[in-house]
Amino acid sequence: MFVIGSGGKHLEKELRELGGEIIKVELRKFPDGEKYVRVLGSGNEATVVSSTFAPQDEKIVELLLIGDALREKGFERLRAVVPYFSYSRQDRATKDGEPVSVRAIMKALGLYYDELYVFDIHNPKTLRYFPAKAVNVSPAKAIANYFREKLGDGIVLAPDKGALERARAVAEELGLEYSHFEKRRISPTEVEMRPVDVDVTGKNVLIVDDIISTGGTMIKAANILRKLGAEGIFVGVTHGVFAEGAIERVSQAVNELAVTNTIPTPVSKISIVPEILKL
Ligand code: R5P
Repeated sequence: MFVIGSGGKHLEKELRELGGEIIKVELRKFPDGEKYVRVLGSGNEATVVSSTFAPQDEKIVELLLIGDALREKGFERLRAVVPYFSYSRQDRATKDGEPVSVRAIMKALGLYYDELYVFDIHNPKTLRYFPAKAVNVSPAKAIANYFREKLGDGIVLAPDKGALERARAVAEELGLEYSHFEKRRISPTEVEMRPVDVDVTGKNVLIVDDIISTGGTMIKAANILRKLGAEGIFVGVTHGVFAEGAIERVSQAVNELAVTNTIPTPVSKISIVPEILKL
């Protein structure tokens, strides 16, 4: 039984169509801006689905309130499915006095939820901050299936070494070659960025990553691939956290941009709902 938070409304129709049973919940705001939550169903176990895209803090508070309401109603086992887990890039204190923000949110959710499922979290190691079972679900299969026909005998690339595991997972689904971009210093003032150990000339290339924000990373990678003679350039990313104008800028630089629907955007063409139903 699913309870859909305001960060999961865009997934509700497909969840229902694919057989998910939904518990009704009233979600609104008091005139002063505070959240109001009321769960209208009952039961023993529930899975709360809500991505925490902007306004992030409201959706996080709502997840806590839904958890509290479900416990109040006597639900014994609660799972939180948070496809896009905001604050995940704030995974360490870089200056004295800063929090590890992702840890704070995970600990707070752990007060109510027995299990946490996220999709392609920026740093999977941060799941250890959740005090119980926490699972990072890979959208690799969904991304691979979306691009399969378009890529042919192509190459899957990560924009940096840190995202190599993502490229590997998608490439393995497709049976294709994979690699990553690397920065190399070619003179005291110049840094060159290029794919390592693969020849992209005349090839279709799929660049995969966890997040697109400004689009700067993808545009830079796409421009290099064009110069190197790549044929088609495709971008498949999990979370479209697009800054103003980023969709247009990236779309102009590549043949196609597609992200998953962990966040609703005009280019959220790849659904993670089938994966949610398998959890
Ligand atoms: C960085 O570590 C992330 O994996 C993404 O590559 C980054 O957040 C993308 O940001 P932008 O779209 O602003 O270049």
